[in-house]
Amino acid sequence: MEHLWNQNVKKLTPYVPGKPIEDVQKELGLTEIIKLASNENPYGPSPKAIAAAQEAASMNQLYPEPSNRELREKLGMEYGIDSEQIVVSNGADNILLLISQAFLNPGDEVIFCSPTFSVYKSTTLLMGGVPIEIPLNDQYQFDLDGILEKINEKTKLVYVCNPNNPTGTVVDSDELESFIKKVPDHVILVLDEAYAEFISIENYKMGVQYVKEGYNIISVHTFSKLYGLAAARVGFAFASKELLKPILAVREPFPVTRMSDAAAIASLEDPEYRDFILTENRKGLDYLSDELEKLGFSTIESYANFLLVDTGKEIEPLYQDLMKQGIIVRPCTSFGYPNHFRVTVGTPEQNQKFIEVLRKVLEN
Ligand SMILES: Cc1ncc(COP(=O)(O)O)c(C=O)c1O
Repeated sequence: MEHLWNQNVKKLTPYVPGKPIEDVQKELGLTEIIKLASNENPYGPSPKAIAAAQEAASMNQLYPEPSNRELREKLGMEYGIDSEQIVVSNGADNILLLISQAFLNPGDEVIFCSPTFSVYKSTTLLMGGVPIEIPLNDQYQFDLDGILEKINEKTKLVYVCNPNNPTGTVVDSDELESFIKKVPDHVILVLDEAYAEFISIENYKMGVQYVKEGYNIISVHTFSKLYGLAAARVGFAFASKELLKPILAVREPFPVTRMSDAAAIASLEDPEYRDFILTENRKGLDYLSDELEKLGFSTIESYANFLLVDTGKEIEPLYQDLMKQGIIVRPCTSFGYPNHFRVTVGTPEQNQKFIEVLRKVLEN
């Protein structure tokens, strides 16, 4: 039947997610499982978000308000930008797909560093675009000059995942600004800032500021990480009204459910909860990197809610051993790092348990 497929679909490889808890329960018959594999928020959504989603469920007979006006207005206030410069959709993944659908013609080139989030490549291939991958340097940092060198008249999009998944590394503010100024006008720079709220560098300038300054930038965010709403599927992006026009033209009519929209709005109304998550995340990162280094691993300084860990040898056996003990981490083989795993910051109890189990597994 493959002859019936869209030609571009044949080029795709399925997305490799962190292993779901349900699969491990089924395969290994375990009941207690700690999943630290998908950069989810270990504390869950704000209680206010849960209550708002429950209340909205009673209105499920009505289609949601299609433009997510109230959510955009709240986001506009939160990030200091006109709500007309915001699009909301069904997760950041969906926004990345909309960007490709809106802008890519067959043969257009799309540049990004590698390894990074795999969706840039798959959505490019789907539209018949040509992915151009520039390796991260040996410090796991973006090679921004390498990107600039590859820009030509065929380049349409450049992706910078900041902080980068799976490395957790961040582009230095001054370097980012100087890069942005050098990107030519015919190129759209997509800053994937799914983890940017976790950046703990004082006065770090986020993508939304550059959007306000008028650069050809789309800054992509999500409620899945900091706000703990991964299953609700709400992503948002900031861009000029001109850049949003084609994105809105391809967006499906009601991409965000009433319940998810209400949960996202209520999350923004709970800054104390968000601050708690940020504080705990920082402590968790410090704890995990200290303990992992004590166990002889190298960790890469992270500005997100996860840590990349170099174990110095093939990761698969350790990954399997941890899983048998109910701990799911993310092996990074699919990212091109066969010796590394990525671990999400959990609650203090989850982090301690993970280190305890890891220590035992290594002893055996
Ligand atoms: C860098 C990056 N961008 C986008 C996403 C997708 O987020 P969402 O859950 O909003 O689709 C993820 C999810 O892990 C991510 O790591």
